[in-house]
Amino acid sequence: MSSISQNRTVTVIGASGVMGSRLCRRLLGAGYTVHTFDSVHRNSTTSSEPLLICHKTLNDAVAPSDVVILAVPYAAELLLAEQLTTQIGHRIVVSITNPLTPTLDDVVTPPGESAAEHLCMLMPEARLVKAFNTLSAAAFDVSPDEGHQFDTFIASDDAEAAHVVEQIITDMGFRPWYVGCLKHSRTLERMSALLIGISQRYELDGALGWHVVQAKL
Ligand SMILES: NC(=O)c1ccc[n+]([C@@H]2O[C@H](COP(=O)([O-])OP(=O)(O)OC[C@H]3O[C@@H](n4cnc5c(N)ncnc54)[C@H](OP(=O)(O)O)[C@@H]3O)[C@@H](O)[C@H]2O)c1
Repeated sequence: MSSISQNRTVTVIGASGVMGSRLCRRLLGAGYTVHTFDSVHRNSTTSSEPLLICHKTLNDAVAPSDVVILAVPYAAELLLAEQLTTQIGHRIVVSITNPLTPTLDDVVTPPGESAAEHLCMLMPEARLVKAFNTLSAAAFDVSPDEGHQFDTFIASDDAEAAHVVEQIITDMGFRPWYVGCLKHSRTLERMSALLIGISQRYELDGALGWHVVQAKL
């Protein structure tokens, strides 16, 4: 674990997206080297950010990192699993997706299933970690210095991989909670739908997120 966590190199697939761009910004802010692949950056030859390296192919983007974050829609995650099966090997793969219905307040996956478990079946060699999915994109725009610390939850059957991601999350300024095995993704993905449902019902705007509170008695 220590060699991976000290590597401080992460690949973000979908770096041009709402979540991908924010993940990159936080990672770069924490001093990580970030390798990316997306349609916007793959044709750029230069970057104003020395630690941001944009690749022309998926395989080139994945090769330098032990940790690969898939910041893409659920359907694209499944496509990527097929495209990356050989290249991904035993890397840590982070699924951030919420397989939401068109109304956004529920998930399309049947009870007892999750997007992360589907991905895991397609990438059996990879060390699958569910994380970041319960954070809204707007939460990334709130500086930790502003007094709000957002929690995010990690589910994985691989405790060592979970701890690597835990460290990355901490470095990015969020508070991680490792909730246990990958099947807890079923709950985590539904937590996002629940939060969106709350925000719709109460017409909340701004950066929404979960926070575990401990009141000392
Ligand atoms: N938005 C949120 O608040 C939020 C919060 C938590 C979790 N999430 C999850 O985060 C993921 C991304 O959401 P988003 O809102 O950031 O979406 P988005 O803005 O539409 O970005 C999607 C990204 O995925 C890339 N992509 C799409 N299909 C691809 C493929 N087949 N291969 C490689 N890259 C592909 C796109 O790159 P190209 O331009 O190259 O197509 C784009 O960079 C989703 O799974 C969502 O459920 C979103």
